[in-house]
Amino acid sequence: MNREQLKARVAQEAIDYTRERLTPDAVLGIGTGSTVNHFIDALRCLRGQFAGCVASSEMSAERLARSGCNVIDLNEAGALQLYVDGADEADFSRRLIKGGGGALTREKIVATASDHFLCIIDESKRKVRLGAFPLAVEVLRIAVTQVCSTLADLGGQPHLRANFRSDEGNPILDVSGLDFSDPLALESEINQIPGVVANGIFARRPADQVMLASKSGISVY
Ligand code: A5P
Repeated sequence: MNREQLKARVAQEAIDYTRERLTPDAVLGIGTGSTVNHFIDALRCLRGQFAGCVASSEMSAERLARSGCNVIDLNEAGALQLYVDGADEADFSRRLIKGGGGALTREKIVATASDHFLCIIDESKRKVRLGAFPLAVEVLRIAVTQVCSTLADLGGQPHLRANFRSDEGNPILDVSGLDFSDPLALESEINQIPGVVANGIFARRPADQVMLASKSGISVY
């Protein structure tokens, strides 16, 4: 199986997982990215069995609508039963790096609003230690230079993502070289920098379960 097939495989397994837990009034949170796209496409088979979905990006919202799902604004949704999303990296404590697709701010909001976060990944994403993947940091435009300078003081090398704006209209910095020995502390420290909207470390709100597809099958931890 190649990587794309592993993504499709774990997404299908997540559909089975979701089907077993769905109630007619359930609202699901739906992430963003190529792995979740497989999940959204397969969600068509569960149409009519739950109330609707909150999407973590405009891209996922459009795809969900094409799959026949009722897309609901988070402010109208109340509690979300389950959030399903991918990740760029996941460690053994289910802490994540996300934001490769630039949807980190909404993803963090929707994950935090959800009772249960199921992260679906292929084996290439599981890491003993986070930090090889550049960390996405969404910033207000006025603060780009200042935030870059503070991130450099923390040991990072920030790069402005070219030709990109988030769904909120903000630029994103991709930062390499940060010290990930304490992901929770690093997440909080970056959040404190004036002008930072959100960063892609999910340690304060880690996944509750990681479902991982490898060539030998599916495992959950
Ligand atoms: C989107 O902003 C990201 O957090 C994605 O969830 C993450 O990049 C995983 O994407 P893929 O499933 O495309 O690898």
